[in-house]
Amino acid sequence: MAGGEAAINRLAKQGKHHVRQLIANLIDEGTEFFELCRLAGFGMDYPEVEDVPCGGIVTGLGRIHGNWTMIVANDSRVKAGTYFPITLKKHMRAQAIAERCGLNCVYIADSGGAYLPMQADVFPDDQHFGSMFYNMARMSAMGLKQITLSTGGNTAGGAYIVFMACQSVMIEKLSYSFLGGPPLVKAATGEVISAEDLGGARVHTQISGGADHFCRNQDEAVAKVREILMYEPPQKLHVHRYAEVPPRVSAQAIYELLPAKVHQGINTRAFLEAIADDSQFFEYKRNYAMGRGDNIVAGKLCIKGLPLGIIAANGLGIIFVEAARKATEWIIRCSQDKTPILFVQSSPGYMVGSESEHMGIGKYGADMVRSVSCAQVPRLQLVIGPDNGAANYGMCGRAYRPHFLFSTMRARTSVMSGRSAAEVLLSIEERKREGQGEPMSAEEKQAFRQSLMDKYDGEAHPFFCGARLLTDRVLKFHEIRDWLAMAVEVSVLRPIGDPAFGNLRF
Ligand code: COA
Repeated sequence: MAGGEAAINRLAKQGKHHVRQLIANLIDEGTEFFELCRLAGFGMDYPEVEDVPCGGIVTGLGRIHGNWTMIVANDSRVKAGTYFPITLKKHMRAQAIAERCGLNCVYIADSGGAYLPMQADVFPDDQHFGSMFYNMARMSAMGLKQITLSTGGNTAGGAYIVFMACQSVMIEKLSYSFLGGPPLVKAATGEVISAEDLGGARVHTQISGGADHFCRNQDEAVAKVREILMYEPPQKLHVHRYAEVPPRVSAQAIYELLPAKVHQGINTRAFLEAIADDSQFFEYKRNYAMGRGDNIVAGKLCIKGLPLGIIAANGLGIIFVEAARKATEWIIRCSQDKTPILFVQSSPGYMVGSESEHMGIGKYGADMVRSVSCAQVPRLQLVIGPDNGAANYGMCGRAYRPHFLFSTMRARTSVMSGRSAAEVLLSIEERKREGQGEPMSAEEKQAFRQSLMDKYDGEAHPFFCGARLLTDRVLKFHEIRDWLAMAVEVSVLRPIGDPAFGNLRF
């Protein structure tokens, strides 16, 4: 935890709870907070700052009066809650989920604003600081409530988190909001004024009208936010929810089912049975092109009563033409009957070689990518193994904007495996060195290979990918069912549109 006990004690002296305690108080009693992107900021190596714990911001989903709500909360223990590039990315990701799924947002604002040494990387561009407020304005116009609980500094551009909210709550002698703080005011105009008198809770709730609710402490302020959201209509699901039945297989079985060696093949059917209601997995085209077609398994199952279409890599996961065609068919069928789709990714790529090329692996892979891109149903991705090359596209990787993307410690996401990349780059290097009349020795080749494999192993690792928000959460195996259930539920809060696919090739 950022700053350890000392930081918590420092906050307590100011009359503040730490950020996760505030969130626990805000959500419905006895419910879980689904915290996103906890690895954000790990090992980022920014100027003078190596790690930004959790990206300096806590985001996630919790229920308020039964309604799923996105919570975005600065952690003032991390460089005064200032925004690094990764902080912004995490803030934007939370807002993107909220907008897409139709969730109200609560911002717990306590931030020194832009991390000033990196202003060029956080201030001027799209998806930089200004986009936070652009998103707030548009979401509020869509009817999604944007509520701010200010519990610390909100200076300069950061002040807009208070003023752009549909309703904002400020706390006496804790919250401040101003376009220029007291030092800047003194420098600019000569006026000497305290923060409280310049832009404290009393100023904004009684004089300027920039904030709406005055509270004396954090507990009162949290209660006020809950009160504001009390009149929100209950959310509705847009799929039928069947009765929930627990799996007949224990979640612990997954630890046995998924081998520690990432490139070892898996029995994905057994994995699906371990997460499905009543361990029931209905399979589409089970007998089709055995040994090639079943490197992807397609079908349906329920998670906590919610139906999910399944596209899951199986065995070694290399995608043959037959598997790609079957996957495309099933994505279209699920879109047709408006069933959300879960992609279980454990594939190192599409099959290469002349046989495959001549059979049309390019065009059938493209069909799969097109159907993944155009499917209008909510899509989720769970990475439980290799995740390389075009298989990342066909299995709904980040660029295909799944509603939620989860991975596990078995996930390895990179353009190709370290071994393959080493061979490709080694062949280029060998040619270059031969051209220079200095062919590589066997030792040099081995050292070259090894350094590439080490680099790829590092960059494909869930810690590296999680730090950069390539996943919404790295899940422990026994957490998968709860998180998928939450993700499907949140993803079907908006009505599901009608299917439309572009120009498939067949
Ligand atoms: N950019 C970079 N670093 C910042 C920062 C900023 N905007 N604001 C604070 N920090 C750093 C401090 O240098 C300090 O670093 P250290 O722990 O390595 O010494 C750390 O964050 C904590 O700051 P501190 O001032 O001790 O915290 P605080 O709780 O007493 O006060 C603020 C918090 C936000 C009121 C105060 O830091 C502040 O006024 N910051 C400047 C705000 C501003 O003008 N922002 C404009 C940018 S849009």
